[in-house]
Amino acid sequence: MTRGNHSAYNGAMAYAMGTPEIKAVSAVIRGGFLFRYGYPGSGWRGEVKRFENTFARFIGVRYAVATTSGTASLQTAMAALGIGLGDEVIVPAFTFMATPLAVLAVGAIPVIADVDDGLGLDPVDVARNITRRTRAIIPVHMMGLIANLGKLLPLARRRGLKVIEDCAQATGGRWRGRRCGSLGDAGAFSHNHYKTISAGEGGTVTLKSLAHFERAMIYQDAGAYFFDPRMRHFKKDGYFAGGNFRLSELLGAQLNAQMKRLPGFLSAMNGSKRRLTAALAHHPVCPPGPVHELAGDCGKALFLRVESRGFATRLADALERKGVGTHSWFRSLESDRHIYRNWWPIMNKRGHYDRRQDPYRTTPAGRAVRYSQDMAPRCLDLLGRTVAVNIDPSWSRARERAVLGIVDRTARSI
Ligand SMILES: Cc1ncc(COP(=O)(O)O)c(C=O)c1O
Repeated sequence: MTRGNHSAYNGAMAYAMGTPEIKAVSAVIRGGFLFRYGYPGSGWRGEVKRFENTFARFIGVRYAVATTSGTASLQTAMAALGIGLGDEVIVPAFTFMATPLAVLAVGAIPVIADVDDGLGLDPVDVARNITRRTRAIIPVHMMGLIANLGKLLPLARRRGLKVIEDCAQATGGRWRGRRCGSLGDAGAFSHNHYKTISAGEGGTVTLKSLAHFERAMIYQDAGAYFFDPRMRHFKKDGYFAGGNFRLSELLGAQLNAQMKRLPGFLSAMNGSKRRLTAALAHHPVCPPGPVHELAGDCGKALFLRVESRGFATRLADALERKGVGTHSWFRSLESDRHIYRNWWPIMNKRGHYDRRQDPYRTTPAGRAVRYSQDMAPRCLDLLGRTVAVNIDPSWSRARERAVLGIVDRTARSI
């Protein structure tokens, strides 16, 4: 059972679900035990636990902690690394607003850096934005494009900064053969409806060190973390006030079924992207934009780079009319919280509903930070001139060739 195109957000959605998911979720319901911690004989199936183990192995890290969302995963990652009140965290100008909001949620201040030619966090602008208060950077692998980790990781190491990879849109992506989420200090994944593997909602944090894992566990589940066998050794004096971002067994079961599909999704989409990239490499009107890591790209979309914003909109509209799913930016302000200009709470420096707890008011970093509509000109220019053609893992080679032909002819004729 696969789904057809979905114009609002097609480039970033779960791609297929059906009988395996129905069976997995039904088994949990039949068992009658929905809480992630249980005991043999109770009907508990240990789905979340199994998912965490599978995910950690797949990403290549020691620890994976399932949470209720990508946002919760980002917050948990920051809590794990000890990032908090008045710290500065550098985020790219092109990411879903959840990235800077998660920074604010832990009391830290998002500092916006521009993107580079590959639409990821620009190492040069990061370096420019580092101050004595900077604690971390969050490279975001947008729509499966891998950020320039070759420059960002050494820069962070040199400057003593933590790296949290926002992999919400890049489950399974790789940099030089290693999975995203294993390259920095922590990774944060989303499994919401629009993501590569989906349970409607859900997220995962990946971590490498025991100390970070313990803090993550407490933050995301203050009430029941100690049921987890991995926490048996934990010394209680490290206990701090956490919350509840605990995942249900129903969603764990769905994710276990989705994990079996993930390698197939990734190889199909990456294959299509590589072939389309090669075929359009010298196109006179709409060549693909540069990417940092084509071999590890999730292949969710092919990013065409054109000469003007007006042409990008016309091309995207024309492709849509011909049945090719696309994404272009600046068509509608309302639709796009992926561009810093539309992050209203951030641009207006409203960091909390309670002014007394607003880090923009209560911390030196918050008072000092300045945002402006034009602060990331490359982001605006490149996104304005980009048309993302959505790639679907269910494509046959014939469909792939048909899309290529439509893109080529349409771009030359409008
Ligand atoms: C780049 C990025 N970061 C974080 C998130 C937040 O994920 P969630 O919606 O699961 O909270 C998203 C979700 O769309 C995202 O695209």
